[in-house]
Amino acid sequence: GKPVLRDLSPERNQVLQFKDHQGDTSFPALHTLEKDETRGRVLHFFANHELLATELMALVLLKFPEAPKAFRRGILKTLKDEQEHTRMYVRRLADMGMVFGQFPVNGYFWKMIAPMSTPMDYVSRLSLTFEQANLDFSAYFAQRFGLIGDRASQALMEKIYRDELTHVGYGLKWFRRWKDPKLTDWQAYEKQLEFPMSPQRAKAAPFNLKARQQVGLDADFIQRLYVYSKSKGRTPRIHVFNPYAEQFMMAGPGFTPNRQQKSIQEDLETLPLFLCRSDDVVLVRRPQRIAYLAKLKDSGFALPQTECVSEKGLEEASELRRRKVGALCPWAWSPCGYQVMKPLMAQLTQACPPVGEAWYESIRPLFAKDWAADQLRAFLRSRSDGQWLIAEDAIGQSCDSEVGVLSQIECLRQKGYPRVVVKSLYGSAGGNMLRCWESKISERQMGWIANALRREGALLVEPWLDRMMDFSVHWQVEPGAIRWIGWSHLKVDDRGHYRGSLWMPSFMRAMPKELAKFAHEGEPERLRRLFYDLKEFLFPHLKQAGYLGPVGVDAAIFRGGDGRPRLKPVIEINPRYTMGRLSIEVGRHHAPGSAGYLQILNQRDLERHGHDSFDAWSRSIEKALPVVTDERGRLVSGAVFLNDPTTASGCLALWQASRDIKAFWEVGHPLEATLA
Ligand SMILES: [Fe+2]
Ligand SMILES: [Fe+2]
Repeated sequence: GKPVLRDLSPERNQVLQFKDHQGDTSFPALHTLEKDETRGRVLHFFANHELLATELMALVLLKFPEAPKAFRRGILKTLKDEQEHTRMYVRRLADMGMVFGQFPVNGYFWKMIAPMSTPMDYVSRLSLTFEQANLDFSAYFAQRFGLIGDRASQALMEKIYRDELTHVGYGLKWFRRWKDPKLTDWQAYEKQLEFPMSPQRAKAAPFNLKARQQVGLDADFIQRLYVYSKSKGRTPRIHVFNPYAEQFMMAGPGFTPNRQQKSIQEDLETLPLFLCRSDDVVLVRRPQRIAYLAKLKDSGFALPQTECVSEKGLEEASELRRRKVGALCPWAWSPCGYQVMKPLMAQLTQACPPVGEAWYESIRPLFAKDWAADQLRAFLRSRSDGQWLIAEDAIGQSCDSEVGVLSQIECLRQKGYPRVVVKSLYGSAGGNMLRCWESKISERQMGWIANALRREGALLVEPWLDRMMDFSVHWQVEPGAIRWIGWSHLKVDDRGHYRGSLWMPSFMRAMPKELAKFAHEGEPERLRRLFYDLKEFLFPHLKQAGYLGPVGVDAAIFRGGDGRPRLKPVIEINPRYTMGRLSIEVGRHHAPGSAGYLQILNQRDLERHGHDSFDAWSRSIEKALPVVTDERGRLVSGAVFLNDPTTASGCLALWQASRDIKAFWEVGHPLEATLA
């Protein structure tokens, strides 16, 4: 006959009408699967899917009378399977005292598949997408029902699983016959699906590898599907790694990273993968190796989508340019981050800091150390519990001339601080500082001071503190609110250079005795309370500057002149993502009780350990520290590389997970040993 081109919808009785916008048609929460009611809802949900599959197959027969006879015969046979599946569910529901139709049902599959324009479209959408996902669902629920002891439901799911293997295989056979032979299966499949359909819908967790091999999907297809990520509907946040905010703030918007800086930026461009959710997007310069992404997934990380940008920015053809965007999250709101994000600003559903041209001048001061010192001074003056905190005269003073710097150094020495440090306002990670430990200032040191003053206009002069513990606290500034994110320990060497970030499942409990006592002395949780106060204190200032995004505050507990510990609540304020914040975000993927340590290894580390490539070194590290995950796929212990060792040229971000929290405190010793 002639194809039926009208918009059809299935004839359903009153109780089975689609109720997408009335009543709750969503999937039930599974923690109460022991309850008949929950199991009933799960079975009810799947029963509707079987009925939808039946209806959609009938639609295929009506829409494509010219399709090959063998294809149509196959459809009819599958349709009968789906009818049988529907009946099985209805019977099982009845056995449990329920009726098909007693809960509202959705028409989602119909909406997604009915507009199909060719049989190829149909096999891509139903067989290779929704039926493929059912390989995961049915195997998983067969197992879960079995564990609860519901044998009847288990047997039902097993039967459906076996049939689904045939259905997906059938779809794959026709898909291969119809696809462009120049394309791989994966390429043809991805091309065929149009948003909001995407390969994301062809899988569920846990990913059933065996079933896909059995069906005959090829290894490339399976691995690409495994690591594939695209938001199913939530508007994505867009991340990008742009690390040189301080340099931009120091040198102005015209700053260009040198070759070495560029290579570090490229090496570490994957870091935002660990900051976001699986429905977010990370902009990268190089496409990531599928095998690397698969390894991350095996280590317990849900991967977001990655999208390539060129030197010029986001491609005109990028589908991102036509999607709504939830938020823009560059590593820092520097001119570089602004440049990359600018083309997406029109699609934003949320506010972002750079509005108009004024944003740079209003945000820039937040990056400077003299601003942080002023905030600390004002914060301390607002409190009456100064005894356990840094003395006011030990807070950094900003000096804008050589004479000013020298007299401030002298002044601190008179007050009993023999060691003094002069800091660049925009230096980061302990770089760009001058340690004045000898009584005389050398010619070389004078040169450094003169140079820095010319460049930045001022320098910060403060006593060198005998630090006992370095750490950072992290917040997120949102429109109208500031949210607490967490704590992270900073490991610095005795010259004040950054060594690594340590994340503990419980910050307070991990502290050595003397420091833990200090944190609670006089008043329980006084350390935590102080940082809550500081957060509220800084919020109006951040808001006034129009800043939205991550903030990390570096702080330290140091030994005062009297030998007792004291707190310096603010060393630096970083209005951007930091390695400390990254460590907290990576920590979210951990199994309970396991801690993590982040290090950025460079060429010198590589040579010191006697390897000639990061790739070779990574293999020996992996051997010494194999990844172990728990039954829910969360990281327990082992080494994870936050960038791909195969392509790393200048540095490698190494994350070590372990339950041996004590070993992490002795940083530098056991860690170095495992790296050797
Ligand atoms: Fe079915
Ligand atoms: Fe099926």
